[in-house]
Amino acid sequence: MILRDVAFIGSAATASQFPTDNRPQIVFSGRSNVGKSSLINALLNRKNIARVSQTPGKTRLVNFFTINDDFYFVDIPGYGYANVSKKQLLDFQILIEAYLRSPQIALCVLLLDIRRIPSDDDLLMYEYFKSLSADVLIILTKADKLSSNKQYNMIKQIKAKLAPRENDRFIAFSSLKQSNKELLWDVIEASVERYQNEQVL
Ligand code: GTP
Ligand code: MG
Repeated sequence: MILRDVAFIGSAATASQFPTDNRPQIVFSGRSNVGKSSLINALLNRKNIARVSQTPGKTRLVNFFTINDDFYFVDIPGYGYANVSKKQLLDFQILIEAYLRSPQIALCVLLLDIRRIPSDDDLLMYEYFKSLSADVLIILTKADKLSSNKQYNMIKQIKAKLAPRENDRFIAFSSLKQSNKELLWDVIEASVERYQNEQVL
């Protein structure tokens, strides 16, 4: 992937602030602290375009980035953190559900910690993603924390829990080692192209 231009467009707190143009959107979701900002920074070759937070659950808004003016990266708030009020949780759900109705979503990226069996929240997000007409990619983060043997075993257990569809890809990633970055870009670019071709039809 040749990055000519990367721009942070802005954050949305309500659905009225979502972009309305028809460029494809790649959405990243996962529980708080899973490594979402680190992944986005790695893909975009930036140290801190998506802020790597010290406090879990800090990313409270839907954040939009454009890549080469062609497509969007969308960072939605991490779920599953403690210490939020019922009101905050409800606001979060309303915002995410509104966002996931965007017809421009070309690829849903679900981030899962490679060391953990998916939680009920992870399963719910995966079901959400499957209900959309977008492609789904599952990225197993923090791969550097496990030996390749253990990675293999965990991926098997994670798949058993998710019961994935045949076309949903699983790719391990480490932001420390920057592993599989090109492979991830290949998947992202394929979804962007598929979306663009469908627009032309
Ligand atoms: P929130 O925005 O708070 O929900 O978190 P996030 O999902 O954006 O996670 P973030 O990228 O901020 O990373 C959380 C913590 O995990 C940080 O301390 C990171 O340095 C660490 N981390 C992220 N990715 C990796 C990885 O691939 N390997 C290791 N070892 N640590 C990682
Ligand atoms: Mg973050």
